[in-house]
Amino acid sequence: MFRHRRAVIYEPTESAGQAALGLPRFQWGEAQAMETSRQERHHEWRDQWEMFRDEAGFLFQDWILPATLDSFANKEVLECGCGGGHHTRIMAGVAARVTAVDLNTAELARGRMTDFANVEFVDADLTTMELGRQFDVVVCIGVIHHTDNPDRVFEVLLRHCRPGGLIVVWTYSAEGNALVRFGVEPLRKLLFRRLSRSKLAGVSRVVTAMLYPVVHTVYRVPFLKFLPYFEYFANFRRLTFERNVLNVFDKLNAPQTHFTSLATARRWMSSDRLDQGSVSIRPYVGVSYSLVGRLKP
Ligand SMILES: C[S@@+](CC[C@H](N)C(=O)[O-])C[C@H]1O[C@@H](n2cnc3c(N)ncnc32)[C@H](O)[C@@H]1O
Repeated sequence: MFRHRRAVIYEPTESAGQAALGLPRFQWGEAQAMETSRQERHHEWRDQWEMFRDEAGFLFQDWILPATLDSFANKEVLECGCGGGHHTRIMAGVAARVTAVDLNTAELARGRMTDFANVEFVDADLTTMELGRQFDVVVCIGVIHHTDNPDRVFEVLLRHCRPGGLIVVWTYSAEGNALVRFGVEPLRKLLFRRLSRSKLAGVSRVVTAMLYPVVHTVYRVPFLKFLPYFEYFANFRRLTFERNVLNVFDKLNAPQTHFTSLATARRWMSSDRLDQGSVSIRPYVGVSYSLVGRLKP
């Protein structure tokens, strides 16, 4: 499906403001008729990653399986949606170079990564981005479902991966997420969107604290594993209180979420640009999918 779209040309341009920040700014070129407008910036993401820091190590390694940290060793890596730069740091420790893109937090993450010389931050919109080069590994963790157009972003990821390169995507699943989709999301739109981010952080702390007694009792009983989020809450028991607050805050704060159905995941990964023998679509703790595959040489 990706092959038959109208060809669109993007031109990297750098605005005065971005140049002052030292951030390359890539904008949608006007050389051909626009297929779409660019995604608007969402201050919520900047607020989130200013207020919270992710410290968990094992989640990233779980999400990228069957890829491993070795998959990044000495590679040119493109990270699509770097947030506060937590995964950027993990990958930069082994990769030759990491190019980390975000529409809202590139500057913030850059300020946190001054101790790494092999990282470049790019302020760009994944729905329209054209960096004009391809990478050995393209990784997109917890981001594609928060964009205006996940289909188009997947296409952009493919386009930035070199022949024989690796694509790693982790996304929320539509399956297994009924409570968040039909319970939390309407509440977020009705109520939480209007709260200040510091009040929302307070609400997130209270909700997290209320979850502890349930998660440490009922959700430990093996024969109750039919309960929603049973596998998910096993991770809740492994994470610190503050990291669990971040998880709750993330759900209440995200300005938009398009949960990825298994059918969509299969459609993306059935692209004829991917080596179908390498493709892995793996449910993770019942609420997400890890999508990993290699492009044809
Ligand atoms: C939940 S955070 C995940 C950040 C990071 N990957 C992580 O797992 O810690 C989602 C990030 O996607 C970024 N984002 C959303 N839409 C984007 C877009 N169209 N282009 C670039 N970044 C985008 C947000 O700014 C935010 O930092």
